[in-house]
Amino acid sequence: MSILTMATSKGGAGKTTLAQLIVGAVHNFGYTVGVIDTDENATLHSWLTDNNNMAIESKLITDETKIVAEAKKMDRKYDMVVVDTAGMRSQATIFAMGCADLVLIPVQMSKADVVEAVKTYKLVRSAGAMAEKIIPARVVFTDYTPKTNVGKQVRKKVAKHELPTMKTRLHHLVAYKEQSFSGKVANKGTAGAQAQLLVQEMCEQNFLPFMREQPELLVAV
Ligand SMILES: Nc1ncnc2c1ncn2[C@@H]1O[C@H](COP(=O)(O)OP(=O)(O)O)[C@@H](O)[C@H]1O
Ligand SMILES: [Mg+2]
Repeated sequence: MSILTMATSKGGAGKTTLAQLIVGAVHNFGYTVGVIDTDENATLHSWLTDNNNMAIESKLITDETKIVAEAKKMDRKYDMVVVDTAGMRSQATIFAMGCADLVLIPVQMSKADVVEAVKTYKLVRSAGAMAEKIIPARVVFTDYTPKTNVGKQVRKKVAKHELPTMKTRLHHLVAYKEQSFSGKVANKGTAGAQAQLLVQEMCEQNFLPFMREQPELLVAV
């Protein structure tokens, strides 16, 4: 019912971490999720298959001509499909954008993150024009350090380029690194709360139509 694609041409910007958070939070809210990893490093795919704590179907698809069909097939089977992409401009990324109901563009605290986010946003626009539809895209600030000059600067630059943003920011948290080993997404503390707040916000903006009502946080904030 909802295909979410993580994209930015900046490597190491937090795409896979963001994908993990959303998969985990939506799963913890009790909905079904399918995953497609189009990055041949297979970080998201192996995160799921090595641990398989959540019993989530995950496919590694490196043949870009198969991405759209597989995403649509999974979309009929599960409430939500999360598609992760590699940190470079590729045909795979364009197909992953083309079938998305929402593209999330993670931005960390550097100028290069903003520069690549701007390029990625243009690419989403262009993929939408090709498919004759508007593909919504939102910046998600991640690895974010509040109350710092760099944080302010990055937000200012993103605003200057008129990139739409999610108001939930994912802070620089060790828990987001720990999840890469544990295969589990925090269901408590700040990390759990931020992931769930992000899902709530996407629900509020009608990007998750399978959620009939806004889910209540499972953690105390
Ligand atoms: N909010 C965050 N807090 C702490 N570390 C983060 C956060 N987001 C990403 N990272 C770290 O940044 C690095 C790159 O993230 P990753 O999700 O692999 O990026 P990408 O998939 O875009 O290449 C990883 O080591 C990850 O743990
Ligand atoms: Mg990645």
